[in-house]
Amino acid sequence: MLTYTTIKELRKALHHERENGKTIGFVPTMGALHEGHLELMKRAKKENNILVVSIFVNPIQFNNKEDLDKYPREMEADSRLLESVFCDYLFAPTVEEMYPAPDKTNYDFGLLGNVMEGAFRPGHFNGVAIVVKKLFEITEPHRAYFGEKDFQQLAIIQQLVKMLQMPLEIVPYPIVRESDGLAMSSRNMRLTAEERAIAPKIYEILQKAIKLKNVLSPEELRRWTSDQLTQTEAFRLDYVEIAEDQYLQPVEHWNNASGMVLFVALFLGKVRLIDNIRIF
Ligand code: PAF
Repeated sequence: MLTYTTIKELRKALHHERENGKTIGFVPTMGALHEGHLELMKRAKKENNILVVSIFVNPIQFNNKEDLDKYPREMEADSRLLESVFCDYLFAPTVEEMYPAPDKTNYDFGLLGNVMEGAFRPGHFNGVAIVVKKLFEITEPHRAYFGEKDFQQLAIIQQLVKMLQMPLEIVPYPIVRESDGLAMSSRNMRLTAEERAIAPKIYEILQKAIKLKNVLSPEELRRWTSDQLTQTEAFRLDYVEIAEDQYLQPVEHWNNASGMVLFVALFLGKVRLIDNIRIF
């Protein structure tokens, strides 16, 4: 694996690969890699000649300074994991390299940007869009891979690519879970042992919830799910939502019974966790 910290050098190396007819699969990350990331990478490696991974904790997508400061940074362990999936290029730039001057771009994702994570984390998706666009311009991948745990992020990036007519394919990847059901996330490592033991309840409740779709309306199911979650004192709920899977707008009826997802975001101690499950 070759590691680059400068845009210029990485561009040159990848330009050479493309000239030799190689296809590039790209997995952008903020590091603290886990099995969920590795599965994305294995798929990218299988579907492309070259695997490029970026590790960059993007300061402008954090709307909470403590979250940014506490975000796990594990470069040595990450490099070993990347070797294990035969990553070809690691791009690990500094903040100065990525932002020599502040990027003031303001994206408007319309309806999609104003719900759920968009409403609870102001500025977050703008920061994600700025960095992802930059990373796509630097790596010029044929395909880029994103996990469905961050379902709304994936939808935002699909819209970004469409809006800017960027010539690449976005490949979604299903949520990867621990054996007890907890959705894998770099933030899980910040949970205390006690919190970690409670966390699988989120997915347990989501699984129970979707079994009730034939007897409850969307509003009743939202309320049922919120009630179940708040019975665990340690959970502090940001939202429970049932939305269609394109613009992520709340649904009021099970019309067509297709393309609907149940979303949850909550704090467990100081850690914010999100999860989702497809209803139809
Ligand atoms: O999902 C993440 O890890 C980040 O939001 C991403 C896509 C790497 C952009 O910083």
